[in-house]
Amino acid sequence: MKLARTLPELRDAVAELGQVGLVPTMGALHRGHISLLAAAKAGGRPVAASIFVNPTQFGPTEDFNRYPRDEVGDLAQLKAAGCDLVWLPDVLTMYPPGGATTVSLAGPALNWEGAARPTHFAGVATVVAKLFGQVRPAAAYFGEKDWQQVQVITRMVSDLHLPVEIVPVPTARDADGLALSSRNRFLRPAEREAAPALYSALAQAAGRIAAGGAVAEVLANAKAQVMQAGMAPDYLALVHAHTLEPIEELAHPARIIAAARLGTVRLLDNVPV
Ligand code: PAJ
Repeated sequence: MKLARTLPELRDAVAELGQVGLVPTMGALHRGHISLLAAAKAGGRPVAASIFVNPTQFGPTEDFNRYPRDEVGDLAQLKAAGCDLVWLPDVLTMYPPGGATTVSLAGPALNWEGAARPTHFAGVATVVAKLFGQVRPAAAYFGEKDWQQVQVITRMVSDLHLPVEIVPVPTARDADGLALSSRNRFLRPAEREAAPALYSALAQAAGRIAAGGAVAEVLANAKAQVMQAGMAPDYLALVHAHTLEPIEELAHPARIIAAARLGTVRLLDNVPV
């Protein structure tokens, strides 16, 4: 497994490997990230992962400083998963002084996470565009865990005619249904026990809506279930799967997406309908 920490090192590694499948991450890797790597390997190209905790996607009051970092553990997992190249840029490489260009978004970036975290997706899209320019992957793999993020990136790639295929990968979960996340480690034991209630409420709601249940009533019940489990929902909505517009009646493709605060952690999850 090659490591690149500077742009010249990256350029040499990519020249040697040829076009890769890229898995962008912020590190603190878990089985969800590794499932993206497995999907990338199944794509048949050499596989690169990037690890960069991107400051511009965190708001001023968010958890950039306490975001978990574990380079040694991450590299061991990537090596075991058969990763060919790890790109580990520093902040000055990604954001050199004098930088004046960012990606500006509308459409699927406006609601939900975009409303709760107004600068978040611009930071995500800008860093992902930079990673695409640096690594020039043939394909890039993103988790459906962050459903809205995948739609924002897919839209950006289409709008900017970027020559990369975006491949969504299903959410990896713990046995009790909780979607794996680097931030789950901040759940206290009682919170960790309550956390799977988010996924079970979403899965039940999807079943009810698919069976013809009244959307507003089903969503209200799901929200009540989540609150009963001690969480504070930010949103829990039925949306068009690609535009992220809220929908009042079932139309395809549809998705239920949710964010809920539990202790100091904000849980995200979503299910197809
Ligand atoms: P990060 O949160 O590290 O996630 C990296 C990738 O792993 C994302 O595509 C995310 O959706 C995926 N992922 C996380 N948990 C998952 C799970 N349980 N199942 C499947 N995939 C999962 O998302 C980011 O970093 C950043 O915003 C990034 C795209 C790297 C830009 O900075």
